Amino acid sequence: MMDPALISAVERYYTAKLDAHGATPSGVDWNSAAGQDLRFEKLLTVVKGIGQPSINDFGCGYSGLLDYVRERNIRVNSYCGYDISAAMIAEARRRHAGDPQATFVNNESDIAVADFTLASGIFNVRLEHSSAVWKRYMFETVDRMAALSRHGMAFNALTSHSDYGYRRADLFYADPAEMLDYCLRRHSRDVSLLHDYELYEFTIVVRLDGRSPMTRLAG
Ligand SMILES: C[S@@+](CC[C@H](N)C(=O)[O-])C[C@H]1O[C@@H](n2cnc3c(N)ncnc32)[C@H](O)[C@@H]1O
Repeated sequence: MMDPALISAVERYYTAKLDAHGATPSGVDWNSAAGQDLRFEKLLTVVKGIGQPSINDFGCGYSGLLDYVRERNIRVNSYCGYDISAAMIAEARRRHAGDPQATFVNNESDIAVADFTLASGIFNVRLEHSSAVWKRYMFETVDRMAALSRHGMAFNALTSHSDYGYRRADLFYADPAEMLDYCLRRHSRDVSLLHDYELYEFTIVVRLDGRSPMTRLAG
């Protein structure tokens, strides 16, 4: 069950970032546009080779992922951005007002099932929540993302394999092996862990409708 107090604390954190920095990488708490784009590139691995997918963007911010997709002519059938911050959604709607394929929603219940659900950055800022509470929240959120996805999902998180000296107490550093194991057990045997790019984080890519490579070889 989602904790409303946790969600509203996180919402306040990000709305304050947008107020301070506007629709920029800093406005969604990223250090750089290059890092934001690299995260999108990794998440979009899951849609590679798929004709014109529909995409849910879970925690869309001011719509940076849609900007990325449009700038690179990546063809999508439809895009739904969801964010807990009403201010982010208002900004995203304003920026993409002329895009007939894009919708933005502020309530999770308004998201329809899409081919893929992607989430960049929603698991990073835990504020004062304990690791146990935050981990449970991550697992539950991943489950809900899966329920919204026909063919696959992808999300990122900060890695527990990062240097202690650089860590911040209000951020959550997830164990990549544990998240991989959770997705393998719970959602699919077709799961990739990307932990080889130049950020202190990882991306998990889950394909929901294929059989595992091992099954394919055996069959
Ligand atoms: C680090 S920012 C990244 C925004 C965007 N994905 C990007 O990369 O440009 C995280 C965003 O996710 C939103 N968010 C955090 N937790 C969320 C949740 N559980 N559900 C929906 N949105 C969430 C925040 O309000 C914030 O706008």
